[in-house]
Amino acid sequence: MIKSEIIGVGYYLPDNVVSNSDLESKMDTSDDWIKERTGIEERRWVKSGSKLTTSLMGTYAAQDALLNAKISKDDIDFIVFATLSPDYYFPGSGVLLQRNLKIKEIGALDIRNQCSGFIYALSVADQYIKSGMYKNILVVGSEIHSGGLDKTSRGRGVSVIFGDGAGAVIVQANKNSNSGILSTHLHSEGKYAEELIVKNPSTNHWIDKIIDGKDQDDSSYFPYMNGNFVFKNAVLRFEEVIMEALNYNNLTKEDISLLITHQANLRISKFIQNRLKLSNDKVYNNIMKYGNTTAASIPIALKESLLNNKLKKGDILCLAAFGSGFTWASALIKW
Ligand code: ACO
Repeated sequence: MIKSEIIGVGYYLPDNVVSNSDLESKMDTSDDWIKERTGIEERRWVKSGSKLTTSLMGTYAAQDALLNAKISKDDIDFIVFATLSPDYYFPGSGVLLQRNLKIKEIGALDIRNQCSGFIYALSVADQYIKSGMYKNILVVGSEIHSGGLDKTSRGRGVSVIFGDGAGAVIVQANKNSNSGILSTHLHSEGKYAEELIVKNPSTNHWIDKIIDGKDQDDSSYFPYMNGNFVFKNAVLRFEEVIMEALNYNNLTKEDISLLITHQANLRISKFIQNRLKLSNDKVYNNIMKYGNTTAASIPIALKESLLNNKLKKGDILCLAAFGSGFTWASALIKW
């Protein structure tokens, strides 16, 4: 049977570091509040006027992943790009990545599943590989949140959380290996779509309102989050979907070598760690440095785990995510 193996991991983070104290001058917030409620100490925000775009950061992460995998861009036969902050309303960012990398005319698919986007993308890649359709798939998660945040006190409940960044993996078909993606598990609950949302622009409310300047006070162009409600759902679903993956593979929580949860809030990650009774060396968190980078957070954390020798051949790696939609997902991987 064909297995999908992650053979290369890459990342890219913009240079510009924004500390919690930097935010104190923009809005009514404090380093203490942000650290205590989220664990975040700093994040990266692309400098205004920079040429960086979501697809360009994804391209840099992809180049790093290709280097790590020791394969050429010409070996890639499909692209899956996850983002909630695309360069354009349309077309998607996958085709821009294809253009940037100067890859031949292969397929490029965009995934719009927010914080669960990377695992959804990985799952798509896994299915294409297992069906025999493709051999090397580039999976990217990239976000530039900073341009679209309400950086006034009105937006403080959301804006302090999000950061910019990109991560990428190369997923390869392997017939003679017992390592690789064991399973992925995807869920959604659309009845809570409006609890974590950027409402506009939309097909109900086009951009003309901004151009006309009629709606100066309209906050619907900024992310809205019912933080407490999202938090409560997140802790529940994270545990549920991790247990689903373990049960499906006849494994137990003791079998997890490394858990990487989507980096939404350090309190959420710690809560899950406690529920699963995992020691610190079995969990990787980096939200302190980067904030919530949505679709990019898992591949960035994966890259750092590898750089820090947290993962070795044969380990059981568990990935899990929860976010807007609501959507949530997990993946279990034998490294
Ligand atoms: N600085 C200072 N005070 C603040 C800030 C801020 N940045 N933001 C909110 N506050 C205030 C609030 O106004 C409130 O004040 P009040 O008590 O006077 O009304 C108080 O702090 C508490 O606010 P809460 O929203 O109850 O704070 P909470 O402890 O819930 O933390 C947070 C908020 C961090 C957003 C948390 O709810 C959370 O992490 N939620 C889940 C996030 C998540 O998992 N998102 C999913 C992924 S994202 C995606 O998919 C795109």
